[in-house]
Amino acid sequence: MLVNVLVVGSGGREHALSWKLSQSKKIDKVFTAPGNGGTQNNVDIQVDDLEKLASFAAENNCFTVVGPEVPLAAGIVDKFNQKGLKIFGPSQKAAQLESSKIWAKEFMKRNQIPTARFEIFDNSKKAEDYVVSLDYNVVVKADGLAAGKGVIVCNSKDEAISAIHSILIKKTFGNAGNRIIIEEKIEGIEASFIALSDGEIGFPMASSQDHKRIYDDDQGPNTGGMGAYSPTLIVDKILTKKIQEDIIDKTIHAMANEGIVFKGFLYAGIMIKDNEPLVLEYNVRMGDPECQPITMRMNFDLYEYLVASSEGKLSELPLPAWKHQSAVCVVLASQGYPESYPNNEEILGYNLDSENIRVFHAGTKKQDGKILTNGGRVLGVTALGDTLEAAITNAYFEVEKISWPHKYYRKDIGKKGLDYL
Ligand code: AMP
Ligand code: GLY
Repeated sequence: MLVNVLVVGSGGREHALSWKLSQSKKIDKVFTAPGNGGTQNNVDIQVDDLEKLASFAAENNCFTVVGPEVPLAAGIVDKFNQKGLKIFGPSQKAAQLESSKIWAKEFMKRNQIPTARFEIFDNSKKAEDYVVSLDYNVVVKADGLAAGKGVIVCNSKDEAISAIHSILIKKTFGNAGNRIIIEEKIEGIEASFIALSDGEIGFPMASSQDHKRIYDDDQGPNTGGMGAYSPTLIVDKILTKKIQEDIIDKTIHAMANEGIVFKGFLYAGIMIKDNEPLVLEYNVRMGDPECQPITMRMNFDLYEYLVASSEGKLSELPLPAWKHQSAVCVVLASQGYPESYPNNEEILGYNLDSENIRVFHAGTKKQDGKILTNGGRVLGVTALGDTLEAAITNAYFEVEKISWPHKYYRKDIGKKGLDYL
């Protein structure tokens, strides 16, 4: 019998997941809640309304796939499991790897998983004294979920002290900042390593690299991600093996030893320094925008793999197969993002999908037959190419065809990958 799928979320990642899942011959219909202007069969339920999501999934015979971290941290998987509903993703306990940065750091420390040295504080005076005593720069992190904004990379003691004040005293991130981590700032090269786990093994997804800063050449503040490409040669064969064994496998096994079965996407944000990978952070979901180029390169039925992960049966499947082509996703944002930006501007020229091009929607909505901007990151133009250079050219060729008054994008997505060829 064919099943339906419910994808939870509304970003570019969820559009890419629902697009890929809809290709499975085992699936009848893919719903997205709440979805965006590009997703099909949208269901008007927010990602944190777990009761309504569960009722919808039960009534519509759905296998549920969760995109973002917020419902995972709120325990959507536990709730669905209690009700006998099928769902892909980590339990609330497993999601602590992302929902509490302190939990994750202590987990890494007790399991000898390589990460930057750190201390934890809830008292700003003690935190300041600590920073003053150090002879290296630090990164100050709020413990809890802060919509990707709770990490402040500091280039001086003054910056670190003002970050401490902002989080612990001004409560910029609310209760997510009741405790902070102060850790050594690592200078190196960043890459994302994402694996699919069933609690026992972790299948590597294709390698990728995000571009976090808003401006070209990695200038300006951090964003959710302004573009990504896959594969990345920054992670060569030797490093891949090291990351797989010393980080991914070790994490999954250590979680299991602590009584927590990790099912879902395990995303390690890695900094490579002197050829050694360190974990900067974990996410318990696909990256956005990394998901967009990665799904473009999938040569397998994603649905089968997500079901196998949720049932603890990944070892029954072959290693996932990937297209040899490169894929690049250029995020088109609204000017002003990651701060404030205008909404409700009509987007023209977005209808470009072909075998090698997908325009994944993020902050868009459909209204009166038009597509309007409805968020900071608006579209992710994703292109395949025989080489990374060709994929970059193909993506930017299409990017030029799309317009709205406050369109903004980086012009150098993928460029750092070319330096490694
Ligand atoms: P996120 O937690 O995804 O918002 O990521 C925060 C970003 O801060 C990372 O992608 C890195 O660019 C940076 N970062 C986090 N920890 C460190 C560290 N120890 N050293 C240098 N940069 C860091
Ligand atoms: N692109 C980074 C993230 O999804 O957290």
